[in-house]
This record gives sequence, structure tokens and C-alpha cells, in this order.
Amino acid sequence: MNPAPPDPARPRRAIAIIGGGSIGVAFAIVFARAGHEVRLSEPDAGRRAAIGGILAARLGDLDRYGLVDEPIEAVIGRVELADSHARAVAGAAYVQECAPERLDLKTALFAELVRLAPEDAVLASASSAITASAFAAGLPGRERMLVVHPGNPPFLIPVAEVVPAPFTAEASIAFTQELLAGAGLTPVLIRKEVEGFVFNRLQGALLREAYCLVRDGVVSVEDVDRIVRDGLGLRWSVIGPFETVDLNTSGGIASHAVKMGPAYARMGAERGQHDPWTPDLVEKVAGERRAVLPLEQWAERVAWRDRRLMSLVRHRKTEADA
Ligand SMILES: NC(=O)c1ccc[n+]([C@@H]2O[C@H](COP(=O)([O-])OP(=O)(O)OC[C@H]3O[C@@H](n4cnc5c(N)ncnc54)[C@H](O)[C@@H]3O)[C@@H](O)[C@H]2O)c1
Repeated sequence: MNPAPPDPARPRRAIAIIGGGSIGVAFAIVFARAGHEVRLSEPDAGRRAAIGGILAARLGDLDRYGLVDEPIEAVIGRVELADSHARAVAGAAYVQECAPERLDLKTALFAELVRLAPEDAVLASASSAITASAFAAGLPGRERMLVVHPGNPPFLIPVAEVVPAPFTAEASIAFTQELLAGAGLTPVLIRKEVEGFVFNRLQGALLREAYCLVRDGVVSVEDVDRIVRDGLGLRWSVIGPFETVDLNTSGGIASHAVKMGPAYARMGAERGQHDPWTPDLVEKVAGERRAVLPLEQWAERVAWRDRRLMSLVRHRKTEADA
């Protein structure tokens, strides 16, 4: 997950970060660790004064875990606290906005950033749920605007959802994906703008059910967390939910849908959700799985999953014993 070490012969282009809260500072670490000069602009004086210490503490921890490839002073030295948005975006190839999640604020900010930034700079918002169509539709330069929604914190959770609006230019999307991958992130292109994108929709589906189960007295809050921590989540750190059921059932996911589909449909209906796994949908999902993993390789992959889990379980045991 560490990005490729910086090559002094090919300096990386400058990055502007707008808003130095938890996500802004974390993005500064991501890009500076990858060798970019970063200029970070934060309007709150108290927060600005704290940023140097936060950077040093986070990078110190990363270093102790072997996740920085050079002295942390070199990484910190690439981060400049800019005294204005204009200073932050001057000469930047990419602007990552990390201001509070408010539509009016983001619209005003992007209207300002597009005036200040170089003409070819891509302007991305870290928004958790507000789409580029919502904040940028009426703005000049909207073809350079999109959402890049990170996991928190992005220097540890590599996945970043790249969510263009219909008006975002292909070149801006491609540039963003390449830039993020070069900084050690895992960009995932989201094909349609939906509220919450995919990360938070998946998280939301689980949370909605968890709230219902607690409300109905089925389970305690701590036991929901235990079931995810020592069950679903442990497996999901190796494989995703589709691959999980694909590997749990001989015959793969198509067979799982036959055996379990009606029960899952009843559970959904109980919550007022009527989205059965129709034969066409199951065929599409199974087709994508079989393209990645032909059934002849299924048993081999199950053994691989178990070895990955053994490695994780050993790691947890070592940490618990330490
Ligand atoms: N925290 C998360 O888990 C998470 C995860 C992914 C995405 N996001 C999104 O990232 C964005 C930032 O979230 P956060 O958690 O870092 O919030 P935060 O409140 O920690 O930080 C926001 C920062 O922006 C500053 N700010 C306020 N007005 C500003 C302006 N006009 N221009 C520039 N900066 C301004 C604030 O002083 C603050 O330091 C939000 O859109 C949020 O939804 C958050």
C-alpha cells in the first residue's frame, strides 16, 4: 500500500488541499508521502496551529509501523500551510476540497477555486454524499470537477470513490484515477451519481439493520459489533460480500442464490424492502464472478481464503499477546 518512493528526477506535481480538518490533514499525508508538494489552506486559526503537531504524530505512528519509506521530516517538509486559498491552489495540478459537508459552502468554494486555480487543474470534493451535479452544475469549469470520496483515514484505508458528474470530462476522470493510484490509493470509479455513493450505501444497509435489531431487542450493541468484528468483518478484510457467498457455497454464488435467495427476500420484505434477486440479476452477478474465478479454481481459492484468514488470525493473536 505504500506509494512508490519519490523519484527526484521526476518531481510530482503540486497538490492543493482546501480545509485542514481530519480528512484534509489525512490527504496531505497521502500526497506528501507520495512525493507531492502539498499546500494546505485552513481558515480556522486554532486548527491551523494544531496541524503541524498532528502531522508529526500521525507520520511518527506510520513510521513505527513501517509505512513510510523516508525520514518523516522529509514528508512533513513537503506540506506548506498556505495563508489563503489563492496561495494553496497556485500552480496546483489537483485540488482536493475537504471543507464541511454543506451544499451552499461547497458551491461557493468551487466557484472561488475555479477562478483561482490553474486552467488545467482538476478540482475534487471529498464530499460524503453531495454529488458534483449538486454543487457544480451551474459553475464554469464544471468539466474539471468531480467527487473523490475517501475512506477515513485515507493514509490507511486506500479505497477512494471517484464519482464524476455527467458533465465531468473523461480526461479529468482519467487524470484523477492515475494521480490517486500513484499516491498509493485504490481509486474505484462509480458509474452513476447516487446519494452516499457505494461505500456509505453498503455501510448504511448494515447499520439500518443493526439499529432495527437493537431496537427489537434481538441483540445488544456490543454483540452487533462483536459479530462484525469477529465474523463478517474479519472475512471482509480478505474478500468482499459477493466473493464471500461465492466461496461459502459449492456451485458458487448462483447456487447460493437458489438456496438462500428466498430467505433473504423474506428478511428484506420484513423491513419493507422488496428487491428480490431476480434470475436475470443473479445471472449477471454470477457471470461477473465466474469471469474472475472459474468454478474449476473454486476449491483452490477457498484454500487461499483460509490461508489469508490464518495469517490475520495469527496477527490478531500476536497483537493480543503483546
Ligand atoms: N470524517 C469522515 O469520516 C469523512 C470521510 C470521507 C469524507 N468526508 C468528507 O470530507 C469533508 C471534510 O470532512 P472532515 O471530517 O475533515 O470535516 P472537519 O470538520 O474535520 O474539517 C473541515 C475543515 O474545513 C474547515 N473549513 C470550514 N470552512 C471552510 C472553507 N470555507 N474553506 C476551507 N476550509 C473550511 C474547517 O475549519 C475544518 O478544519 C466533508 O465533506 C466530509 O463529508 C469525511
